[in-house]
Amino acid sequence: MATAGSTHTQAKLVLLGDMGTGKSSLVLRFVKGQFYEFQESTIGAAFFTQTVALEGRSVKFEIWDTAGQERYHSLAPMYYRGAAAAVVVYDITNPDSFDRAKKWVEELRQQGNPNMVVAFAGNKVDLEEKRQIKEEVAHAYATEAGLLFIQTSAKTAQGVNELFQEIAKSLPNAEPLQAPGRMVFVDKSYERASGYSCCS
Ligand code: GTP
Ligand code: MG
Repeated sequence: MATAGSTHTQAKLVLLGDMGTGKSSLVLRFVKGQFYEFQESTIGAAFFTQTVALEGRSVKFEIWDTAGQERYHSLAPMYYRGAAAAVVVYDITNPDSFDRAKKWVEELRQQGNPNMVVAFAGNKVDLEEKRQIKEEVAHAYATEAGLLFIQTSAKTAQGVNELFQEIAKSLPNAEPLQAPGRMVFVDKSYERASGYSCCS
């Protein structure tokens, strides 16, 4: 819960979605301004932090980038439990990933924090000529489901900062920033487990 007058808050955020939809690429674009054509598939999960500045306050996101491969599905609750926000990602060129994204939304509804801010992100909009999921269809679904909706490209950076800005704005009750320590153990263990290096 926000402390009255506090200007710095932190929020745990999780990315969910089918493998190959671009979760890691979105995070890498947001955190480091980079993009790789041959981004490696995530193993387990990876942890990042990045701060978004809003007018008069800032939100430090503690980001869990989960692995989309089905064999990691059972790990997901560890990452979305207690999360203030989730980004459910689909690939606009891949209808299966859209179906999978809707399943993630259902799972969050049933098992996630009821106050969680959920954003629905249609990624790879730079591949417009290969689009299979119409913007209107996805937008209508997201609106009906009460989700923030945004189309993004990790490749061109379109919509990426906006995605995190919109989430930050929707988080009036983010936790006050605490002394470092709480995440350190978890962070280090997952860095080891995933082979990723952390990127705050
Ligand atoms: P998992 O870790 O297996 O769950 O996949 P992921 O969702 O993290 O996907 P990842 O970021 O690894 O991206 C998969 C592939 O899509 C990579 O080859 C990326 O370069 C590519 N990719 C990601 N985002 C975009 C995008 O916005 N546009 C294009 N053209 N390619 C993208
Ligand atoms: Mg990944």
